[in-house]
Amino acid sequence: MFRILFFFGIAVLFLSSCYYDKEDQLYGTTICDTTAAVSYSKQILPIFQRECYSCHSGGSPSGGIAMGTYAADKALASSGRLYGSISYASGYSPMPKDRKLSSCNITMIKKWIAAGSLNN
Ligand code: HEC
Repeated sequence: MFRILFFFGIAVLFLSSCYYDKEDQLYGTTICDTTAAVSYSKQILPIFQRECYSCHSGGSPSGGIAMGTYAADKALASSGRLYGSISYASGYSPMPKDRKLSSCNITMIKKWIAAGSLNN
């Protein structure tokens, strides 16, 4: 009996460590931190690359919304449509459609925009 419990315990530990590994891959290894100054290249760009560029970069971006270069990302931020869409604000198409970004990532993007969408 003890043996079974022991193996079960090991299995649970093993599975839960897998779970965290996977989460790291899904959300990137950068720790989401909303207290420090936000950097485009270190925090914002990886979010866009992971969540947006698959549809919004290249020759024929979805919905005619071009992203994928700093200039294009900044222009979208300045138009208000970037934040409108990721915050699921009314009047904007929610982006990404099926699954809202984590609130930490939304806050970081908000801070980046508020600080002037710098190329930092
Ligand atoms: C699976 C493809 C896909 C992904 C991923 C995606 N979008 Fe979109 N996006 C679309 C399509 C299609 C449209 C145009 C149709 C619509 O508005 O629903 C659109 C429209 C938009 C618009 C215009 C919305 C408006 O109402 O003005 C913005 C802004 C936008 N996307 C930003 C983003 C951002 C930022 C991300 C990443 C966080 C993202 N999208 C991820 C497909 C995508």
